[in-house]
Amino acid sequence: MKVLLQRWNLVVLMTVILIGLCVSVIYSNQDLVEGVRAGIRITARSSLIMFCLAFVASALQAVLKNNFTAWLQQQRRFLGLSFGVSHLIHGILIIAFARLDPILFHANTNLSTYIFGITGYVFIFLMLLTSFHGPSQWIGPAKWKALHRTGGYVIWFVFFSGSLKRALTVSSAYWGIVAVLATVIALRLYYRHKKIEKFKTLKFIY
Ligand code: HEM
Repeated sequence: MKVLLQRWNLVVLMTVILIGLCVSVIYSNQDLVEGVRAGIRITARSSLIMFCLAFVASALQAVLKNNFTAWLQQQRRFLGLSFGVSHLIHGILIIAFARLDPILFHANTNLSTYIFGITGYVFIFLMLLTSFHGPSQWIGPAKWKALHRTGGYVIWFVFFSGSLKRALTVSSAYWGIVAVLATVIALRLYYRHKKIEKFKTLKFIY
């Protein structure tokens, strides 16, 4: 079991589970459009979980050391890749929704969905591409770090703004997601602040 939750096995496992879940909700639903929408929601939530785990892994390992945080830290690249796959399926289902029922699709989107969503997808694509050896070597470590850090904050913002909007307009249950995302960013910023402080101290000593 442990080996299934590691490296590429983890990505393959997540992909198989997600495709299985989406196919079963689409085919078990009487209405194809509603089935596709259910798939969009499933992949949005699986993406949210995997994104948060990958985004917070290093910060969590710094404040809490146990087997789970060590596993998160070791697998963060593969959790990030699993997030990319999940969001790829989210994107495919969005296109299917737009083609199957354009009127309902337009009623469920607005200009900010396009601006933030497409910007998010551009970063996801670039981050996925540079997760592989060749492209990451080509851009170099400094640009790689800048791209992945900026992309992480952009994707966090897309999730946060969408969840906040839904918390205010759709259901108060979304406040739970808003709270999780706020905790994740607080941990990230705290960890970054600590790292900068440590770097300044080391520079002062040497
Ligand atoms: C990084 C980019 C994106 C992220 C992080 C994201 C995230 C999400 C989330 C969290 C949900 C809510 C699921 C729920 O109800 O709990 C959602 C639903 C949805 N997203 Fe995305 N999304 C992105 C890009 C896009 C784009 C580019 C479009 C279309 C232009 C889009 C269209 C939709 C639609 C139509 C729904 C509602 C499905 C329904 O309930 O019928 N999303 N997305």
